[in-house]
Amino acid sequence: MRVLSGIQPTGRFHWGNYFGAIRQYIQLQTEDAAFYFIANLHALTTVRDPQVLRQNTQEAAIDLLALGLDPDHAVLFAQSDVPEVCELTWLLMTGTPLGLLERCHAYKDKKARGLPADAGLFTYPVLMAADILAYDSDTVPVGEDQGQHIEVCRDIAASFNHHFGEVFVMPRAKILHTAAKVPGTDGEKMSKSYHNTLEVFEDPRAQRKKIMRIKTDSRPVDQPKDPDTDHLYQLFSLVGTDQQKEELAESYRRGGFGYGDVKKLLADAAEAYFQPSRQRREQLAAEPDRIHQILGDGAATARKKAAEVLRRAQQACGIR
Ligand code: TYM
Repeated sequence: MRVLSGIQPTGRFHWGNYFGAIRQYIQLQTEDAAFYFIANLHALTTVRDPQVLRQNTQEAAIDLLALGLDPDHAVLFAQSDVPEVCELTWLLMTGTPLGLLERCHAYKDKKARGLPADAGLFTYPVLMAADILAYDSDTVPVGEDQGQHIEVCRDIAASFNHHFGEVFVMPRAKILHTAAKVPGTDGEKMSKSYHNTLEVFEDPRAQRKKIMRIKTDSRPVDQPKDPDTDHLYQLFSLVGTDQQKEELAESYRRGGFGYGDVKKLLADAAEAYFQPSRQRREQLAAEPDRIHQILGDGAATARKKAAEVLRRAQQACGIR
């Protein structure tokens, strides 16, 4: 299996990023190849402060390493350190129908909200296709919201292969059904733009306060409830131990418990779950040279592979 995925450095990672995607990166990092990158070129469509983008990119690398990404197995790099991907984007762009991009939800949502959309946002899925195709990746671990983009990547690759021969490997999304769409504190999909996130490396006291404010329904305490349809339980099921989950699910079905108690359990379980990563993060943050070295080594390996695939694509379409 050749695995690849990317994550935008638009702020601190939240539980959706971790349970939907990063946890899979770590599980899959010992496959034949595992390439993971910080998508700073994609982030440029929303982050316009150079200092913030630079800082976020560094913090994202530290976060990924603290969460268990191991540079001895996985190749970790910043997207912008592989300029071959931008050249490949152009080759792909020339064969991408406008209609395919017009149907993409990130662009459609922004347009529907009356916000100004630029060419970067519109062509975002083509850059993403180049990211995936440049490393001959066949498996792309992501959350459900990226599924459409992987389908677009497959369409673009199929069209190029149809015109110029079998140049690209066909990738597939790998979506964990247990965390395909992690809910936020309001029960909607957890997303920075909805202001409903629980962050992975948030100060535990601040996180506890947020958890205590999670919206719940107003059914009476003694009424039995279905744990599987409750977002508080869904969040708990990500961080609780198997035994804790079973016990809590049983209390839901029996009734007679208060949401306040569940929130306390959730805050305790979350603190315990991320504690080892929090400790590793403190050490890593004190070693900026090491982070620099890891990203530099990762970029060199990634460039080598991307250059090989770019050459193949150029030859096929008559650029070389
Ligand atoms: P991004 O940065 O928005 O999100 C990173 C990863 O987190 C997942 N995710 C979620 N999963 C479950 N529940 C949620 N609430 C949730 N919120 C976010 C996303 O699905 C994603 O896997 N376009 C991509 C970055 C990218 C990329 C790529 C990904 C650029 N090139 C090539 C894969 C392959 C993005 O914006 O992800």
